[in-house]
Parts: sequence; C-alpha cells; structure tokens
Amino acid sequence: MTAMTEPVPFLDLAAEFRALEQEWLAKIREAGARGSFILGPEVSAFEREFADYVGVKHAIAVANGTDSLVLSLRALGIGPGDEVITTPYSFFASSEAISAVGARPVFADIRADSFTLDPAAVAAKITPRTRAILPVHIFGHACEMSELGEIARRRKLAIVEDCAQSFGAMSAGRVVGSLGDCGSFSFYPTKVLGCYGDGGMITTDSDSANEHIRRLRNHGSGKPYLHSELGCNSRLDEIQAAILRLKLKRVRADIAGRRKAAAEYARRLAGSAVKTPTASAEAAHVYNAYTVRVPNRDAVRQALADAKIPTALYYPLGLHLQEVYRDLGYRPGSMPVCERLTAENLSLPIYPGMPLAHIERVCEALRRALG
Ligand SMILES: Cc1ncc(COP(=O)(O)O)c(C=O)c1O
Repeated sequence: MTAMTEPVPFLDLAAEFRALEQEWLAKIREAGARGSFILGPEVSAFEREFADYVGVKHAIAVANGTDSLVLSLRALGIGPGDEVITTPYSFFASSEAISAVGARPVFADIRADSFTLDPAAVAAKITPRTRAILPVHIFGHACEMSELGEIARRRKLAIVEDCAQSFGAMSAGRVVGSLGDCGSFSFYPTKVLGCYGDGGMITTDSDSANEHIRRLRNHGSGKPYLHSELGCNSRLDEIQAAILRLKLKRVRADIAGRRKAAAEYARRLAGSAVKTPTASAEAAHVYNAYTVRVPNRDAVRQALADAKIPTALYYPLGLHLQEVYRDLGYRPGSMPVCERLTAENLSLPIYPGMPLAHIERVCEALRRALG
C-alpha cells in the first residue's frame, strides 16, 4: 500500500495516549497505593484547576456531560411545566437533558454562518412558561453570549451553557462556561479536553448551585448516609481526573494545533464551493470539529470515502424532527436554517498535529469531488 492510499485518520487519540501513557500510569499507581478511586484528591485538584481556567468560583466534577446538563437544570429548579429554549442543531443530549428533568424543550432556529442559536429567534420563542435558555457552543464556536445574556437578564431567565464541544472557546471576551448561571462540559474522549472514559464538569459562580449539585451527584446526600432529596450517582473517578489534569496542562497547545489545522484547511479551500467555518476573532473557535458546508453533500461524502477519507455528519437531522419529539408539533420547514444545514454539513478530519499532507489530501479530494 502506498502512502497515497492509506486512510486519513479522522482523529488520532492513540498518538496522544502514547505521549501521556507513562505519566498517567504513574498517577494510577499513586491512586492505587492510596486506595482512593472516586472523588479523591485528584478530582478535587482538577476541580480547582478547571475552575481557575474557566474563571469561575466553583467546578463540580460529574460522570458525563449529559449528567452535567441534567444536574445544572435541576440545581436551577427547572422541572415539569417549565420551558427551556434551545437549539435544534446539537447532539441529542442537549434537549434530552431538558426532557429528563420534565421540562419542555422549545427549539429556536440557528444562524447559518456559525451553526449557533440565533438570539432574535430565541427572543421570539419566550412565553410566560420560559424559565431558561440552553445555548450550545457547537463544534468549538461560542454562541453570541452578550445578546443571549441581555435577553436572559431582561426576561429573568436562567442560562445553562452547553460547552461540551467548546472547551476554551470565548464569547464577549470570556471563556465559555463563565457566561451563564451554569456551564456544562463533557470529557468524552473526542472532546478538546477529553478523558479515557466518561466524565463531565459543571461550572458556576453560585454558592447555592455548587452545594446543591454536590449533593445531587451523590444521591442527594450532604452528610454520609443522610439523604435530603433524590439525587443520582454521578461522580468522576481518580483515574479520569488524573488524565484530565495532565491534558489540561497541554490543552492550550492542543487548541493551537487545532487552529493551525483549521487555518490550513481555510487557506486551501478559499475560493472553492466549500463554505468553511467562520472564524471571528471574538469567538476564538477551538475546532472540536471542522464542519464545512458543501453542495451535493452525500455525493461529496462518498467521493471522500472512496479516497479513504472518513467524514462525519454532525448532524443528519434537527432535534425538532427527531421521532421522540413528534408530539412537540414541529414539522419539516419549522426550522429552515437548521434543516438547510443538516443537508449541507460535512465534518472533516481534524486533531492537534494533523499532518499537512493529510489536510492537502482532504482538500484535493474535495476540489475533485466538486469539479
Ligand atoms: C453538545 C453536547 N452536549 C452534551 C453532550 C453529552 O456529553 P456526554 O457524552 O459526556 O454525556 C455531548 C456529547 O457528545 C455534546 O456534544
């Protein structure tokens, strides 16, 4: 097999693992020697370091990013009878969390240039039952938080930021996760800051939300074996906290690597039929995904697959049209921008240190496919 016919990896988690393997194994041995495996000193240190990075008072580690959304909503008192406005263009967990607390997801359309919630569409969806906005910083691009924050202030709504895909991105001059009442993060392995299992984090400046979430993640228990409410088991373990602490130290370099790859794509695809992501200085995109828009998307995707270039469809269907939400009353055409983008999106390989030769191969295959 020649170099030209080798598959282009979509991402390369194994290379990153090799670089961190020895340090991580040493940390695991330390945790083993201490006999401490869940919510121990590594988790506490990571919570402190994470809060400092984001610039908030508290960070509470949980089992995954879905729980971090659910527990944020619960801590803010959102439940049955409430409406939460969110984007139809996200991974399902964003709206699933709203449904999980018994509230109703209300979808507002997105902006075509950034795939993020359109603040004007959000304002139009507010009713007397609206309690919160759940903006999703998608693919590494932050939402327009100054406008959404202004709407929330005026209408007395809470904000839960879904930062799962955008660790380190910025809006209104601040890091995401510090711009709402709660910030929710996922450490799923493919994220900008990912672990080697499942993990999540909630950020907040509120002392009461901090205390409440700490209870909720541990079966509603503030004191050992005393339970003041129903919570759940959603805790981070020492082994994941250890790798996350090692990766947090190099995350700025990783983000720089993603931005470099994105800039190389943008330079090579300039002037083609491929619409590359907008990269406003203000949004400080971190490129968790490199999602472009192309005409004849499915044919282009097949041409890339034939050239051994894997791609992903983030996402093939808006949340408002998912079967599970058929009773909410949305129909094809309800969210026109979202629906256009679900037909045009194509996510290309990207990761820190992606070889230039691979970026070149992807761009060449795209140019060929688009004639
Ligand atoms: C936008 C968004 N929100 C929430 C989640 C849920 O995170 P987790 O898989 O850690 O539960 C994800 C995970 O991919 C996500 O992309």
